[in-house]
Amino acid sequence: MKTNVNLKTYNSFGFPAVAKYFVEINDIQQLEALITTDIFKQEKHLILSGGNNVLFQSAVFDGLVIFINTQGVEILREDEKEVVVRAKAGEDWPDFVRFSVGNGWHGLENLAHIPGKVGAAPVQNIGAYGMELKDSFLQCKAMNLATGETKVFSKEDCRFGYRESIFKSELKGQFVITSVDFLLKKNAPLHLDYGNIKAYLEQNGIEAPTLQQLHDAICAIRDAKLPDVKQIGSAGSFFKNPVIEAVKFEVIQKDYPNIPHYDEPNGKVKVPAGWLIEQSGWKGWRDEHVGVYDKQALVLVHYGGGKGLDIVELARKIQDSVVAKFGIRISPEVNFV
Ligand code: EPU
Repeated sequence: MKTNVNLKTYNSFGFPAVAKYFVEINDIQQLEALITTDIFKQEKHLILSGGNNVLFQSAVFDGLVIFINTQGVEILREDEKEVVVRAKAGEDWPDFVRFSVGNGWHGLENLAHIPGKVGAAPVQNIGAYGMELKDSFLQCKAMNLATGETKVFSKEDCRFGYRESIFKSELKGQFVITSVDFLLKKNAPLHLDYGNIKAYLEQNGIEAPTLQQLHDAICAIRDAKLPDVKQIGSAGSFFKNPVIEAVKFEVIQKDYPNIPHYDEPNGKVKVPAGWLIEQSGWKGWRDEHVGVYDKQALVLVHYGGGKGLDIVELARKIQDSVVAKFGIRISPEVNFV
């Protein structure tokens, strides 16, 4: 257990919040022991994984930060059609995807290059380019912080939704995901339909991509649009794409015939928040410390020297101007701490 630890390198925004207590967990036994301690019982706590989706609003986290860094990948079962592979929570997500693709296993390729750790992936059901974590998720193990017992959560138990799961709602802060089991296929159709995947492949003279080529294309497409968190602080998409009523959508579409949109199964329509923000005039806006990324308006960035509250304030202004222009309230997908 350490005290007064600067979390600057533990959150992708790069804000220098200081944790009163900080502990790194390398195996489950350490976690079991930790939850019996007085510090754990008396202090509020925060489970920190890759820190790619958190916004520290204050200069101090007045409690215990539990940094999950358990490592290990194992094959649980395999036949000629599929494989079940277990990854511990602290495994790096992009490395795990690269490893799976390298073995010829299908299911995670469109989720390539998303910064973060395996254990955080189910919490917000990460998604990109037409695929979501839940599509390849079999089950996960999570420890109940009140009892120390480990529970297996099936896909149904997790109640996955768009950037949602039970770990982000009802069970928030109560369980720590310790490992995730994925069901991956040895052969499966590739998902090339989303956005500009096909255009990218065409431009690069790739007609029938292999699994590896698709993975590499996704990495290149992301690199072109999203900031490298090692250079510019960000948490990827800051807002969720709002889902609105069809009638409301039609009104907006009259004024903006080219508005991008995706029909939802319930007759509603999902509209890209990045487009709404760009139309509201924010794309590329910046002050000394923070701004709106010039290649993707959904991403708020920290150029350095700023504080979490600068982003909170910017986010609020963006929300207000999107309400004023479109009558739509966009909500953050990032966790405010
Ligand atoms: N758009 C704009 N201006 C912008 C940004 C986007 O007009 O500044 C338009 C694009 O032209 C496109 C549409 O909005 O027509 C959608 O854009 P894009 O395909 O880039 O995806 P997104 O909706 O902005 C979502 C995810 C990303 C994920 C991409 C690709 C959310 C909140 N974000 O972004 O996830 O990588 O799709 O699948 O759903 C993340 O969660 O951190 C993340 C990066």
